[in-house]
Amino acid sequence: MAASIVKRVNRVKKLNVSHISARYKFLTGSRHFSTSKQWNKALVLGVYENESTDSIDFTGTARKFDEKADGKISQLLLTVKKPLKCGKTRTLHAVDPEFSSVLVTCIGKRGEGYDELETVDKGRESIRAAVAKAVLQLRELGENEIEVDSCGDTEASAEGCHLALFSYDDLKAEKSRKPAVRISCATRYSQDKNSMEKEWRKGAILAEGQNLSRRLMEMPANLLTPTKFAEIIKEQLADKCEVLVRDKDWAESMKMGSFLSVARGSVEPPVFLEIEYKGRQSDSPLALVGKGVTFDTGGISIKPSQGMDAMRGDMGGAACVAGSLLSVSKLQLPVHVKAFIPLCENMPSGSATKPGDVVTAMNGKTIQVDNTDAEGRLILADALCYSEQFNPSLILDMATLTGAIDVALGAGAAGVFTNSENMWNKLQKASVRSGDRVWRMPLFNHYTKKITECQLADLNNIGGSRSGGACTAAAFLKEFVNNKNWLHLDIAGVMSNSGDVAYLGKGMSGRPTRTVIEFINLMSKETKN
Ligand code: BES
Ligand code: ZN
Ligand code: ZN
Repeated sequence: MAASIVKRVNRVKKLNVSHISARYKFLTGSRHFSTSKQWNKALVLGVYENESTDSIDFTGTARKFDEKADGKISQLLLTVKKPLKCGKTRTLHAVDPEFSSVLVTCIGKRGEGYDELETVDKGRESIRAAVAKAVLQLRELGENEIEVDSCGDTEASAEGCHLALFSYDDLKAEKSRKPAVRISCATRYSQDKNSMEKEWRKGAILAEGQNLSRRLMEMPANLLTPTKFAEIIKEQLADKCEVLVRDKDWAESMKMGSFLSVARGSVEPPVFLEIEYKGRQSDSPLALVGKGVTFDTGGISIKPSQGMDAMRGDMGGAACVAGSLLSVSKLQLPVHVKAFIPLCENMPSGSATKPGDVVTAMNGKTIQVDNTDAEGRLILADALCYSEQFNPSLILDMATLTGAIDVALGAGAAGVFTNSENMWNKLQKASVRSGDRVWRMPLFNHYTKKITECQLADLNNIGGSRSGGACTAAAFLKEFVNNKNWLHLDIAGVMSNSGDVAYLGKGMSGRPTRTVIEFINLMSKETKN
């Protein structure tokens, strides 16, 4: 008993912040690999759903592997009467001397594409889910080097496996961590290996961005303070971007009274991050803004304790901005992006803002803080105002802003509030590619009236009743934006995955990082940015 306590204390001691961040360095994509390891090679092959009991509808790559194995793969598959259905797998052994396991995964019906009602590309989604399941099963079997069929969409295939293999176990003992797996694309029978490798790399980078977001969101709030967030961002982005870390004095000098009113309840100092990626010369950058509340207790309007641990993910907007920038810069997209991330904790204390207090935002508007738990809009108000100083061609903010958006849309889609039909169309198009959906919500005057009706100040921060809570929050933000291309993404509903997205494990989701990267990619094709 005593011995085991001593052991445990030693382990806890080892988990100091610097120790964790040193390990963190290597873990943003897949795990790092030891060179002395023995590799067990496996292969993932795709098949289409097919009613026939005497033929297999292989993908191009799978057919060639089957031919090379003298038809052994199809023979073995056909020994079982029931054809494979979408999302199901069969694992074969001893069919090829090079691979200890060959896993056949069904990627759905041939030719499936955009589904209008689902607003998703079903073909791409099925590939992501099918390869995800395959690599996880092979990891379970102890395979640690996996070659994966491109399944006719190399990028989607790469996304599926890199997202599926993510796990946040940095804080666990070595033996409880998921083993490292090396994945590559099965290019050996491709006509154009180079373009296939390029697409695979793009998919892997898209996933890497989302995995950085997931890691940041999952990190406990005692380790990921505003200061630590800034440090990690510097470590991750400084070679590709300019990263400015602004402190409380700076925020005071900018008259960010709304942001500072949230930070004041905590002993952790606030940080305002300003990041620039200049993939092209322009004087009208694309602005990204992310809510960075590293822990949201609700403040004096304190939240119920059940499930409060999830509020370590209340910097999801900030994390998605960081993840997007990582991918955009790794892909070297020809675009100019500026990102603005207000970071703080929302805590109750003797110095915390009290309900009824009035604070003044950077643009001079006064706000009556009727509920200190509606803090996201307070920190974003100043960040949005500040971002406008850089003549942005568009402003896109992301925030785990309201429980109401979760009530409205659940994890089905991020809620999007925008004053631009054109921006909406572009974002929607991006989300069809990524499979990480968005849904448009209203910015009616009806909601603005709810937040401008205020006893002591210009605005109140909750909009009276709970009705239309996501819409009143968006209407509040609108008071701090003049840009004609503004998009606000309320991502509280998609913050975590409880099994809805097959290729994301349970936990913080990093959604909608890939949609935003695709959106920036689309925008980079326009001349202005
Ligand atoms: N961080 C929360 C919103 C949230 C809820 C994020 C669930 C992720 C999952 C936000 O700061 C908040 O507390 N909003 C309040 C606003 C209300 C007081 C007007 C809410 O949604 O209840
Ligand atoms: Zn809150
Ligand atoms: Zn919050």
